[in-house]
Amino acid sequence: MYNSKITGLGFYVPDNIVTNEDLTKMMDTSDEWIQERTGIKERRWIPEGSEDTSAVMGAKAARIAIERAGLTKDDIDFIVFATLSPDYYFPGCGVMIQDLLEMPTVGAIDIRNQCSGFVYALSTADQFIKTGMYKNVLVIGSEYHSNGLDKTTRGRGVSVIFGDGAGACVLSRTEDNNKGILSSHLHSEGKYAEKLTVLSPSIKKWVPEIFKNIDTDVSYFPYMDGTFVFKHAIVRFTEVIHEGLKANNLTTDDLDLFIPHQANLRISQFVQHKLKLSDDQIYNNIMSYGNTTAASIIIALTEAWEKGKIKDDDLVVLAAFGSGFTWGSVIIRW
Ligand code: ACO
Repeated sequence: MYNSKITGLGFYVPDNIVTNEDLTKMMDTSDEWIQERTGIKERRWIPEGSEDTSAVMGAKAARIAIERAGLTKDDIDFIVFATLSPDYYFPGCGVMIQDLLEMPTVGAIDIRNQCSGFVYALSTADQFIKTGMYKNVLVIGSEYHSNGLDKTTRGRGVSVIFGDGAGACVLSRTEDNNKGILSSHLHSEGKYAEKLTVLSPSIKKWVPEIFKNIDTDVSYFPYMDGTFVFKHAIVRFTEVIHEGLKANNLTTDDLDLFIPHQANLRISQFVQHKLKLSDDQIYNNIMSYGNTTAASIIIALTEAWEKGKIKDDDLVVLAAFGSGFTWGSVIIRW
């Protein structure tokens, strides 16, 4: 059986920085509240008039990843795209990457697993490589949140958290079984779907209703029971990291770098504390980008790699928890 390893990384975020101070002009909030509760200082939001979308940003990140892998678009066998903010209700963004990058007619799928999206996407790509079906799979996480948020005081509990951005990697076949993705561990608990959700549009609630209820109906905006989600996140993060390490006969002492989904700095710090990790063993960048959902892990992984924080042979652990609920981890020997 083959193994798979990351051979190229890239990320793209819009230039437009939105600070906490900027948000106070839209809603009743404060820099102090946001920093204290989430660690976020600023995020990137696609400005009005920009052509960026989840697919367009994903394509920009993908071009960098492919080039850094020393490949061309024609070497890519398959596309896996993770997002909760697709350009269209259907089709998914994966096919748009095939078109934007002018690739041959390779297959493309979308992963709909929100904050766990990148972990699920990487694991999916890993299976295609391990079975020998594909040699190089492009894996993308990208989110255009800002256009779908309730930017009034009514939506402040959700909208201050989210940022726009994209990250991508190329996952390639390797015959070295000691390197690359060692294992992945995926979970879900659908009974909590409505704790973190966008209820509309849906097949249940379709277009005529949107226009009928637009001023009063908040079901078109993300809803989150923040405290409930927080409590589950810290338990599931810890569990799934231990599950992954144990499956590979490893412990937290073996861990060189943990890259958590950037949901909230307090969640990352709580998990760091529970796992007894030093500051050098964890990488966070939510302070600068907010929560970019399916893009957050791959943006952080790329940034950490660009800063030289990941060396050959390092044990890198990725883990995420989010809407669904879904959660998962990926254990990588770099
Ligand atoms: N500015 C000022 N005040 C605010 C804001 C804001 N932006 N938002 C909420 N408040 C107020 C509330 O109205 C409330 O006021 P009240 O006590 O008078 O009713 C008070 O602040 C406390 O609100 P809480 O929601 O209890 O605040 P909490 O400490 O729980 O923090 C947060 C909220 C940051 C959302 C936190 O719960 C959290 O991070 N939860 C987990 C998020 C997460 O992990 N999501 C998963 C990934 S996302 C995905 O999958 C798409």
